Amino acid sequence: MLVFGIESSCDETAAAIVNEKKEIVSECLWTQIEDHKIYGGVVPEVAARAHLEHIDEIIDHTFKRAGLKPQDVDAFAASAGPGLIGGVVIGVMAAKALALALNKPFVAVNHLEGHALAPRLTGDVEYPYLLLLVSGGHCQILIVKGVDDFERLGTTIDDAAGEAFDKVSKMLNLGYPGGPIIEKMAELGDENRFILPRPLNNSGDCNLSFSGLKTAVRKIIESYAADCVLEHANINKQDTADICASFQKAVADCLIHKLERAIKVFKQKYPQGKDIVVSGGVAANTYLRKKMADLAAKEGLIFSAPPIRFCTDNGVMIAWAGLERFQKGYTDELDFKPRPRWPLDENAPKAAGAGGVKA
Ligand code: KG4
Ligand code: ZN
Repeated sequence: MLVFGIESSCDETAAAIVNEKKEIVSECLWTQIEDHKIYGGVVPEVAARAHLEHIDEIIDHTFKRAGLKPQDVDAFAASAGPGLIGGVVIGVMAAKALALALNKPFVAVNHLEGHALAPRLTGDVEYPYLLLLVSGGHCQILIVKGVDDFERLGTTIDDAAGEAFDKVSKMLNLGYPGGPIIEKMAELGDENRFILPRPLNNSGDCNLSFSGLKTAVRKIIESYAADCVLEHANINKQDTADICASFQKAVADCLIHKLERAIKVFKQKYPQGKDIVVSGGVAANTYLRKKMADLAAKEGLIFSAPPIRFCTDNGVMIAWAGLERFQKGYTDELDFKPRPRWPLDENAPKAAGAGGVKA
């Protein structure tokens, strides 16, 4: 079985073909980072135009690299939300056009399900597993019970973790995307130099918050700026590295603390579950991966994370989620409407309390 998938929900135009033996038959990715760098973040209109400009070439290359023709694949999948709607529409329309022209099924993939299932393609992760999904737009702790079967234990109540990395990087004039830059700077810094808050640490649930942490970093930067204009702050390289290291530690501490709570719930509800997994762009962070590996070892769980290039957005994860859905018989009509918002757990029975289960 061969499934073709397209990703275009943010700033990567990507496509891939995978099979049921977990082989990546071919993949192609165009990143728009250079187009957005000057703005310090993704500009939706710029992203949509860039997707339009590159999508045909990306699709063409993906088939050429595989030595296949579009009629050789069994289904066409696309990231159909959540995300920037201008880009999502372009990928969805392309996949639908191929499906229509070749009389093959179309599969609408939730972008978050792409991230969530990616570790099953790149490792031997079995349902049910505990997942930390941390990207630029989302930060959730979920139990993945199967395809389209998620139980959310906690979520951020404000910023996503990746968003916080990006904003802190912007405040420090370090560039976009912030995550990898902050991680690199942090290697040179003292993570214990600045005392930063651990928001919601005592909330008794699995929810997270990064907005206050970001504000605390802003205050530190302002303390270096005589006129309180961040761009004029006189911070040397060592100070910057120390801020980055202290911030990264605070983010990781918050995530690990809530994962400890989530593990209790997971073990209680699914004693047969043995995997803990991280995915999404922030999962590329080596510091976080190490802390999660240590936590898993302490808790007797197996830790998995996709290779770093499959943590950030890519076509492979969409093709794989499309394949898992297709295998289950989940296909979509050609009038499926792309969804800018699309909670992963919308079909799940609602958990007790707002936003998550008490641990
Ligand atoms: O999953 P992704 O490519 O796009 C979304 O679906 O949001 O995630 C992008 C996010 C950005 O916020 C970026 O700063 C963050 O992932 N990121 C990282 C690292 N690499 C990417 N955050 C921390 N450390 C990294 N090494
Ligand atoms: Zn993503």
